[in-house]
Amino acid sequence: MAQNWTPDSWKADRFIAKHLPRYEDAAGLVEAEQTLAGYPPLVFAGEARDLKASLADVAEGNAFLLQGGDCAESFAEFSPNTIRDTFRVILQMAVVMTFAGKMPVVKVGRMAGQFAKPRSSDTETRGDVTLPSYFGDNVNAIEFEAEGRRNDPQRMVRAYSQSAATLNLLRAFAGGGYANLRQVHQWTLDFMGRSEWAEQFRQIADRIGEALDFMEACGIDIHDQPQLKTANFYTSHEALLLPYEQAMTRQDSLTGDWYDTSAHFLWIGDRTRFIDSAHVEFLRGVRNPIGVKCGPSLEPDALLEMLDVLNPAREAGRITLISRFGAGKVEDGLPPLVRAVSREGHPVVWSCDPMHGNVVKSESGFKTRPFDRILSEVRGFFAVHRDEGTHAGGIHIEMTGQDVTECTGGSVAITDAGLADRYHTHCDPRLNAAQSLELAFLLADMLNAELSDSRKDAA
Ligand code: TRP
Ligand code: MN
Repeated sequence: MAQNWTPDSWKADRFIAKHLPRYEDAAGLVEAEQTLAGYPPLVFAGEARDLKASLADVAEGNAFLLQGGDCAESFAEFSPNTIRDTFRVILQMAVVMTFAGKMPVVKVGRMAGQFAKPRSSDTETRGDVTLPSYFGDNVNAIEFEAEGRRNDPQRMVRAYSQSAATLNLLRAFAGGGYANLRQVHQWTLDFMGRSEWAEQFRQIADRIGEALDFMEACGIDIHDQPQLKTANFYTSHEALLLPYEQAMTRQDSLTGDWYDTSAHFLWIGDRTRFIDSAHVEFLRGVRNPIGVKCGPSLEPDALLEMLDVLNPAREAGRITLISRFGAGKVEDGLPPLVRAVSREGHPVVWSCDPMHGNVVKSESGFKTRPFDRILSEVRGFFAVHRDEGTHAGGIHIEMTGQDVTECTGGSVAITDAGLADRYHTHCDPRLNAAQSLELAFLLADMLNAELSDSRKDAA
């Protein structure tokens, strides 16, 4: 167990706590924390251990991590259809990569808990009015209005119940038949009908159907195979709002270890990952698999120091490093980190976040991410790992199953002017369903190339 760690040791003065909201109502905060601490955990420690074991497979080069979902979930967009549609696009992507890329895919949603947002400024000014910034629906309201922008601890309780209901539906879909490989044709979304990638997906679905028919004809009873009927699916979010994470942290009754039971996987953002960060201190003591976002300002030595703090036992599957450099920058920025980590023998999953380094302001005034730049960062990420002899292990994306127009480009091209049509995000621009599927096909190609490279090396 981590030394000198308690669920609230992050509060000590020597740690620097950034991007945490200040609550005026101290008694209200304690009350909300106690309410949460008395509620059931959202995930079970054994599930977090299973995910860690799967991530260890990724670290060894034998599987791929697919992590995706909203930039920020919101109370306003809470609906069963939104959850289903995001889940089904993740399934589509996963099946393309499993079938065409021939790799087991570990599926993790940025769902059921992704509410808190770090902000560069504590306040926002419009005209001559200055109010506290919006910190995510579990802290305050997005509307620019004094009452709603007050930090309200009861919002954490509401976020918990929305997460519980979301996770319940996800578990039902993953285990109850929706994810059955016999359903693969049903996952296509109506509005994707026109795209060339939807057609490619139909072909893969046909071939999977034939493979299943063939196995049946050979006398294998495929109705009894849980691997074909259910999908592995896990949840994750940024562990930013520490009062919430602490309240959800419990000691596992089987092992005595501490787990943050708000999600299977938690990550530390690029703005809170530094030595002496309160967020690093908190995550050091929980045994969940954790992610660390790695941006251009991260020095290799600082990364190694953090890895020693977060994973002193060098347990495989414990750490996923999620790089986010930006198109054209990953080729120079990533290799020093990969070399340092390889040299020190830290077993990590390398995952690529091609979203956060590629934000631009469009001429029409919207914050957007050109799809070409996203694909270009993904290609750069694979090229770096090919050169370094490491496994390009995963992708971390902001996406939705809704037919939004938030990122420009893609095969159903969204133009600058078209952004205004359906720009719904509560925070950063997301890939829509068609763009996500297109990305999955690119990933499958790259995984195939990696596989044939490693076969050549072995020969
Ligand atoms: N159980 C396997 C998995 O989760 C295969 C599988 C079943 C699957 N349903 C799926 C894979 C849906 C991708 C999508 O990987
Ligand atoms: Mn984001």
